[in-house]
Amino acid sequence: KFRKNVLVSMFAAASLALAAPAALANTFKMAIGDAAGGTQWELGTSFAKAFSEKTGGKHKVDLFPNGQLGDEQDTVNNASMGLLDFSILAINNVTPFSPTVGVLTLPYVIQSAEDAKKLTQGEIGKQLTENTIRDAGVRIVGWAYSGFRVLTNSKKPVKTLDDLKGLVVRVPKNEIMIATYQAWGVNPTPMSWAETFTALQQRVVDGQDNPYITVAAMKFNEVQKYITNIRYIFSLEPLIISEQVFQAQKPDVQKAILEAGQAASEHSYKYLLETEEKIRAELTAKGMEISDPANGEKEWIEKATTTVWPKFYKSIGGKDKLDAALKSLGR
Ligand code: MLT
Repeated sequence: KFRKNVLVSMFAAASLALAAPAALANTFKMAIGDAAGGTQWELGTSFAKAFSEKTGGKHKVDLFPNGQLGDEQDTVNNASMGLLDFSILAINNVTPFSPTVGVLTLPYVIQSAEDAKKLTQGEIGKQLTENTIRDAGVRIVGWAYSGFRVLTNSKKPVKTLDDLKGLVVRVPKNEIMIATYQAWGVNPTPMSWAETFTALQQRVVDGQDNPYITVAAMKFNEVQKYITNIRYIFSLEPLIISEQVFQAQKPDVQKAILEAGQAASEHSYKYLLETEEKIRAELTAKGMEISDPANGEKEWIEKATTTVWPKFYKSIGGKDKLDAALKSLGR
């Protein structure tokens, strides 16, 4: 009898040892394209906190800012293959893998933070999430609302399309953004996000565009002087999870991921509204000069919408997709 008991308890100990890793904290990795301190970081930290709380501390997320886990576009590939759990990146860096999300980056479609929230939280956002799972193997579980992308440069105040001429502007490797600058009369330089700071610092390029909060988080004020409020694209930055990793989770963990994503998105929206103005003032205090485009951006809007939109009807899934987006925004 004794021998049997010993065997049973040995067996129990062995199976406990095997079962132990699943019972221990399960740590996920999250890539963050920007430096700590911006809207991506805010979404990531808020998600990690909510997710850990919702799983009673059993699950944890480690954040790796500043492109430590690869350039933003590379993180989509890695997550798609199941080599990376989470990534937060700008939507324009998801578009090459799932072109229908381009409807969110067509210039001047989104005209306010409210528009951005409506599109991402409504039917269109749901549809785009399904498309990214299908096309890129990643699921969008949250959104950072980062504000309008503004143009920065080191050379001169830019107020008109004429002022743009002669400037070498870095853009993400995104066809819509490249076409937009071309419509404005310049040939931009497509470059990965990870290379951008050094390129600005070494004057390989004169300028770039990104939201105020990103400009500050990335310390672009140290290498850029002028800002133009072009407001052509509202920067949305999804939190994506590898679909393989998501499907491997138990239903209660999946639920916690979705709920934490929702809570973090709400936090991100509030953070933007509370922070953007303050950051803008800080950038001015640090010596940046801010201007508005002359004529209220009329010419910029006209050139971009009439030339760029039709070029991308096909890739976003048809003109009716854009019409539906505009309709949902009351336009
Ligand atoms: C880019 O310009 O490549 C991205 O918008 C940068 C970002 O994610 O902040």
